[in-house]
Amino acid sequence: MIEAVDVIFGASWGDEGKGKISSRIAKNYDYVCRFNGGSNAGHTFYVNDKKVITHVIPSGIAFNIPSIIGPNCVVCIEEFFAELSYLEHLGFNPKLVKISPKAHIVTPHHKEQDANYYSKLIGTTSKGIGLCYADKALRTGVRADTVMPKEYLWDEKLDGHVLCEGAQSFWLDINQGSYPYVTSSECLPYASCSLGFSPKKIRDIIAVAKMYDTRSGVDPYFDLDDEETQLVAKLGNEYGTTTGRARQVKWLNLDKLSYAIEKAGANILYMNKGDILEEAKIFKLYHNSELLSFSDIEEMKAFILEKVKEVQIVWDFQA
Ligand code: IMP
Ligand code: MG
Repeated sequence: MIEAVDVIFGASWGDEGKGKISSRIAKNYDYVCRFNGGSNAGHTFYVNDKKVITHVIPSGIAFNIPSIIGPNCVVCIEEFFAELSYLEHLGFNPKLVKISPKAHIVTPHHKEQDANYYSKLIGTTSKGIGLCYADKALRTGVRADTVMPKEYLWDEKLDGHVLCEGAQSFWLDINQGSYPYVTSSECLPYASCSLGFSPKKIRDIIAVAKMYDTRSGVDPYFDLDDEETQLVAKLGNEYGTTTGRARQVKWLNLDKLSYAIEKAGANILYMNKGDILEEAKIFKLYHNSELLSFSDIEEMKAFILEKVKEVQIVWDFQA
């Protein structure tokens, strides 16, 4: 029986540091699950000072916990096995990873079309994600149960305490995000129920954001490109884990963050990378559509605490 489900999700445009948070708490759970997206995601975390980068496999594997790729995910078979063998070489047990028989398979054709057309149109990651979900919706897709060896297929059971690791984020969500500059899946906590449990099982909803906003891919909202934003991008090492592309930087939008927290139902908020603003000595955010400046990080934190009351905020500023 499932005791409780906790869900981590990105409250911004991805790249908030979800991987770091989830790897830190994973050991408290019986299962770690992905509920959306595919290898368009990139999660970076450290295990015993060793850097680990994953795209489609949940971080549970690094903590010896069964790791499930859910029915709402899409999987490129080649990339999956390459990632699995990379993780095996790092000393993790590949037998812990299971794919839902209902997950859809990304084909070379999906990736080719994505790279040739959609990556230029809306800045996709070229991983074939949108085309795979399109085939799923058209009922012409290929499901994992028809092509994946049996030993990799999940028996669709969960038990005890379950951690769900979101990929992408609120503003990249196909329903709530800034369409058409979004991904093709549901990224909000409600989408974790696609794994096959009742919404009533959800306990904590953990939002992750940064003290400044970033965006990989095309988005007209990210219209700042000056010395200050470039400095923050450089200090914050804002380059895509999956694509290597430079991310655009804009000051934290507290209006959008509050909206995301409310709609998603978050009760905990991790705020990352305040140390980067300290290094840059720039402390700015948008509130009520106005750009405000603060004299230091403490003043900025105090302002956020005063305005974002519905969540418990964890300032998580180490690297
Ligand atoms: P797609 O998911 O590859 O179709 O890309 C659609 C949009 O979502 C593009 O703007 C991508 O840059 C963005 N995107 C997709 N996955 C991620 C992610 O994991 N982090 C940040 N941006 C992402
Ligand atoms: Mg990422």
